[in-house]
Amino acid sequence: MNKTEIDIIYDNLVKKGKRFDSFKLDGGSKYWIKKRERFMLKHFFKGHPAKAIKRELAGIKALKRCGIPVPNVVYDDLRCIVTEDVGTSLQDIAINKRIGLAEKRKSFSSAGKIMAALHMKKYAHGGLALRDVCWNGAAVTLLDLESFDEVIRSKRKLSIDFYLFIHSWFKLFEVEKPELIAFVDAYKSNINQAQWQKSLDVPLYLKIFSRLFNLLKYKKSDIIALTRAVNFLDTLK
Ligand SMILES: Nc1ncnc2c1ncn2[C@@H]1O[C@H](COP(=O)(O)OP(=O)(O)O)[C@@H](O)[C@H]1O
Ligand SMILES: [Mg+2]
Repeated sequence: MNKTEIDIIYDNLVKKGKRFDSFKLDGGSKYWIKKRERFMLKHFFKGHPAKAIKRELAGIKALKRCGIPVPNVVYDDLRCIVTEDVGTSLQDIAINKRIGLAEKRKSFSSAGKIMAALHMKKYAHGGLALRDVCWNGAAVTLLDLESFDEVIRSKRKLSIDFYLFIHSWFKLFEVEKPELIAFVDAYKSNINQAQWQKSLDVPLYLKIFSRLFNLLKYKKSDIIALTRAVNFLDTLK
């Protein structure tokens, strides 16, 4: 993909006032372009957006190296990053009533397995939400590696990663559903016992609260989801 092609696509994105969008090229192949964010208050916590693309590229490279599925990057510069399409996000799958339960469970189970594989390597994604996992009908791919750091993480940090995914479910739904259980079951059967125990320790984690509050800027929906998620994890004990 060359700069002239991207210039047009980038200008279109800016005109539409969007931060990311998909487009087709090369006789039908689908790609996604993501623009650098403007500096906002939250970046005092999240890190400067100018460095986000660099962090994302480094994260993709590191995870590719250890066999965790991440998208192929076809273009990047200081303004944007362009990746190959990797399917439908679990958020879109979960809310789509036309997708059957078997397919929903397969995609969520695959996500649980990949999160466990990531955690077995002692890496944390840094905030994996349902919309950051895509399913192409056969496998999942992890997106959004702006917060990823190639650092060996403690059990506690890894459990926060697990928690944030569950939390993102309860931001969308009031109660659990079989696909969420499929995620949890797959995670549990692919992670070690000690890490699993730590994942259920959530209510004691004051750290989670501070992290969430930083990350999510005290949105009401986050507080509601927090209570739902903690209650749900209690039922798994
Ligand atoms: N390669 C891709 N394949 C499929 N969907 C993608 C891809 N890249 C981005 N997306 C879609 O765009 C959304 C935003 O991308 P993401 O990298 O998570 O950016 P943000 O930092 O804004 O969360 C994702 O939730 C997903 O729906
Ligand atoms: Mg995202």
